[in-house]
Amino acid sequence: MAERISPTSLQHKQEHIEQPQRGAQKADTLVELAKLEPLTDGGLRTSQLLAQTLALAPDHHEARVLRERLHQMFVPRWHFPMLADKTRNNAYARAINAKVKPGDIVLDIGCGAGLTAMLAARAGAKHVYTCEQQPLIAQAAMQVIRDNGLSDCITVIPKLSHNLVVGVDIPEPADVVISEIVDTVLLGEGALATLTHAMHMLAKPNARAIPESGKLIAQLVQSDALMNLMRPTEAEEFDLSAFHRFASVAQLTPNDVAACALTPLGPASDLFGFDFTIPTVRSARTTTNLACGQTGTIHAVFVSFEMELAPDIVLSNGLQSDGHWGRTAFLLDHPRPAADGTRLTVTAQHDAAQLSLTIAGDEPALRASENATGWLKRALDLPEHLWKTPHVATTAKVRSSAAKNKEGPKKMAG
Ligand SMILES: C[S@@+](CC[C@H](N)C(=O)[O-])C[C@H]1O[C@@H](n2cnc3c(N)ncnc32)[C@H](O)[C@@H]1O
Repeated sequence: MAERISPTSLQHKQEHIEQPQRGAQKADTLVELAKLEPLTDGGLRTSQLLAQTLALAPDHHEARVLRERLHQMFVPRWHFPMLADKTRNNAYARAINAKVKPGDIVLDIGCGAGLTAMLAARAGAKHVYTCEQQPLIAQAAMQVIRDNGLSDCITVIPKLSHNLVVGVDIPEPADVVISEIVDTVLLGEGALATLTHAMHMLAKPNARAIPESGKLIAQLVQSDALMNLMRPTEAEEFDLSAFHRFASVAQLTPNDVAACALTPLGPASDLFGFDFTIPTVRSARTTTNLACGQTGTIHAVFVSFEMELAPDIVLSNGLQSDGHWGRTAFLLDHPRPAADGTRLTVTAQHDAAQLSLTIAGDEPALRASENATGWLKRALDLPEHLWKTPHVATTAKVRSSAAKNKEGPKKMAG
């Protein structure tokens, strides 16, 4: 028997067909809006539009791809191994317990997921003001802090610390300044400039700082595996050595370090010390002789940090330490034989955010096509001291494997 169709049931049926279509259209429109939205708000509005899209159409391919891209852009990937780094977390917990006293006003610079701010609240701070330069991260931290029932004693300020004003953003200067804004060589996340500003402008005189000091140290190391990783001499029997000029500084993940089995050839020597309670952005330079205590081959100068959070609570990314921080090795262009007593002279320099290292006598070999009468000198006609500089390597700004990208594109599209 034929189905009886009334005009109202037809209309009902059409609505059922049209509703998903209308939903899909609306989702597409929201994605187009998300792509046009400027990212000057740190991606907040774009994130909201993509969330609305996915609420309407959970399997919207483009919305999922864009949301992931947005997260990768504004939430550096090192946050996750950092938060899983139990040694780091525990050292901060102990230092904060030791140094934050009941009744303290705490300024936590760089809230991230909110861990150090929550540790300060748990240690008895009267109030914790925590600032975060990335709005998406600040927004998530507010949720984390709410979830842990600490919203009453922690205020998240979605701002760069340099833009905070006492009396506007925080009611009074801080008794304690907490920060964890160091990369593999301490300086690359701008800790010196940030803490110089904070200790002068946002903290009480003689305020406590966590970390309170740090130093950079250097050590000679041997590792054929490191050289093979960074400077493969041939591939399928082709000579690749002209490409090695780009591999002066190895930024190694903890996995790379484990795989390369770096062998120390001598003791570590101090390069620079930093007092974070009275920080300064002054540049510095030092020349030191790094010593070998055994035979082998010097392949690289390994540079690492030691950071004292509180008396006897030290975090490090040295050869023996675990943890999420990457490691930095300055490769020699010409590996040298080492024996007990062999020394290598290095000059280290730093500015507010970068480190460079010059290894004496390690100028890159001039190839026949680039010798003193070669194309570079002829083309530029530079005085000798400018074209024949010694080998200077600088560190990139990284924490572990993922480089930071503060600027990012201006919109998701294009
Ligand atoms: C390494 S994470 C640490 C997060 C948290 N304090 C912890 O230890 O788990 C540093 C965070 O600080 C933020 N940050 C770095 N410098 C900052 C500054 N000067 N002002 C505000 N936020 C900053 C970064 O965006 C990042 O989210």
